[in-house]
Amino acid sequence: EKGAYRHFMEKEVHEQPESVQRTLSAYLDPVAKSARADIKAAIDFNSVARIQIIACGTAYYAGCIAKYAFEKVAGLPVDVEVASEFRYRTPAMTPGTLGLAVSQSGETADTLAALRWCKGEGLKTAALVNVHTSTMAREADLMWPTHAGPEIGVASTKAFTAQLAALLSLAVAAAAQRGRIDATEEARLVQCLLETSGLIAEALLMDPDVQRITYELSKARDVIYLGRGAMYPLALEGALKLKEISYIHAEGYAAGELKHGPIALIDENTPVVVIAPDDELFEKTASNVQEVAARGGRVVMITDAPQKVPSLSGDAAKTLKIVKGPTCDPFVAPLVYAVPIQLLAYHTAVHKGTDVDQPRNLAKSVTVE
Ligand code: M6R
Repeated sequence: EKGAYRHFMEKEVHEQPESVQRTLSAYLDPVAKSARADIKAAIDFNSVARIQIIACGTAYYAGCIAKYAFEKVAGLPVDVEVASEFRYRTPAMTPGTLGLAVSQSGETADTLAALRWCKGEGLKTAALVNVHTSTMAREADLMWPTHAGPEIGVASTKAFTAQLAALLSLAVAAAAQRGRIDATEEARLVQCLLETSGLIAEALLMDPDVQRITYELSKARDVIYLGRGAMYPLALEGALKLKEISYIHAEGYAAGELKHGPIALIDENTPVVVIAPDDELFEKTASNVQEVAARGGRVVMITDAPQKVPSLSGDAAKTLKIVKGPTCDPFVAPLVYAVPIQLLAYHTAVHKGTDVDQPRNLAKSVTVE
């Protein structure tokens, strides 16, 4: 039941401190400050040469974020592809590839077909699923659970952050097994992950600040999302969320791609949402904000470092709105900053009066092509 919430989506967004914590508990040992022994016993990432993630929609974006984590901390190559493309081309698989299906339902037709293709090629397979009795869970060699609990809203929220929690934990396990990090660094990363539940609770307190800017957003015809690093796939997820529930056209771009085309779209009618927690790429993203503001674009910047945003002069300053988020380690930032992105889509859709939980034309589980 929805309880005090207006929609299941709102309820599910607010459940994330618990759903992320539950999921982390399945992967991390809070006493040893390491990946759990049973997780490490089930797979040796030294025998994995490469991971091929296959997924659709939001699960695909979770996979894209995981690529940044696995490659950075574990030095393990990851490819990510939407399952509907993967299954119908002839992908060249290198030996030692782990085929990893990421799916809330575990039943998505394209993802299941891609998983079966990997099995047919003789690859080892894993399924990261929220429904632990699903077809993918049964058919993959290895089942990695998320513990989001039942997700009713068609727009995925808590399943997405649970996928991120599991995938980032697995990246730490892989890094430790492959000798890319020592016990001290493993303990530090595990601690970072274990603190995300509290940071997500903090991010939920952004709700009134986020809500305040959404009336204006709800009047837009198009919205652009920008991010760098792991915030780039989060920008794509933000744009998908807004499209799905508010029916406003939205596109996500890597902030560095702006000047290669999308900057032509910038005008006073096209709000630009910039996801920019303080990390090693912050200055670069901040300079993209200036480029947009200088062209009269309206910017909503979601960041924990407002003091580091270069001051803008004249009219440009008026068009910049900053929503302050929690300070966190860049490793877990995608998990924490997923929250304001979800809230932004939610409140915009509420202003528009759309059916948030059952958006037109969409089904919760796409079990046919
Ligand atoms: O059940 P799955 O995770 O396999 O579903 C994949 C997509 O259909 C799903 O994420 C879809 O994009 C959602 N509506 C996103 O909010």
